[in-house]
Amino acid sequence: MMKPDVGAMGTRVIGHVFIPLDSVDSTNKYAADLIAQGKAPHGTVIMAHEQTAGRGQRGRTWRSTKGLDLATSVVLRPTGLGADRQFILAQAAALAVHDVVSDVMRTVVDGRDGQVRIKWPNDVLVERRKVAGILIQNELSGSKVATSIVGIGINVNSSELDADLNATSLRMETGLEQDLASLLAHLCQRLEHWLGLMEAQRPELGLRYTALLWSRNRFTDMELDGAPFSARPMDVDPSGRLLVEDPSGQVQAFGLDRLRFAAR
Ligand code: BTN
Repeated sequence: MMKPDVGAMGTRVIGHVFIPLDSVDSTNKYAADLIAQGKAPHGTVIMAHEQTAGRGQRGRTWRSTKGLDLATSVVLRPTGLGADRQFILAQAAALAVHDVVSDVMRTVVDGRDGQVRIKWPNDVLVERRKVAGILIQNELSGSKVATSIVGIGINVNSSELDADLNATSLRMETGLEQDLASLLAHLCQRLEHWLGLMEAQRPELGLRYTALLWSRNRFTDMELDGAPFSARPMDVDPSGRLLVEDPSGQVQAFGLDRLRFAAR
């Protein structure tokens, strides 16, 4: 049997085109520019040692430390993915980041819990502390996703993060320094794994995402339409809305436009 063509990332597709940059405003923006120029095949990975204007969710800025943290964007061209199912890309990305973070956490031997969970829609937390964020920018063509930019920031070797923001890094959690190149390769492998299950329409992806939902089945402080709301996350629906149960037992689905976790 022929061996699959495995590249430097240990993957077949994700990262076969690899663009390392010393400094850039935002890898997501760089990816969008490449797509506009028709120069970004499926699986292109862009990584920057420094981002001068990293983008976060809800128009926020994403800060990382030059040479210490991972800032990367992956260009995907999913085949036949309906716009109504685009949330599955966020799930695949969150699972890939989860896997990388939890593998590192397994090296901790000091008895701390170190539970890694996905906070809806796609923050990755160690216990209550945010270690990674994901910003996905999709372009539609009719009712299908034409291109997706999966932007991933992982706090890796930083050691001075804002405790008020409940941020952490792999180094702060484990005391160990990580090799960014190996981490990126592992991330590409896990992303390829989950995207494969997505393409095969296998149920494992959704089930695993649900199982790893932060605060699942636990009442937690949220905000619904700006007002305090206590509810327990149960699951997500195919469009990515969070299914929550309120104290009266009523289960409803809400999108990010209405529901968010209360700031701590
Ligand atoms: C969040 O707010 O949690 C999402 C943060 C996403 C940050 C990453 S870093 C690489 C990529 N390029 C960007 O400008 N943003 C994403």
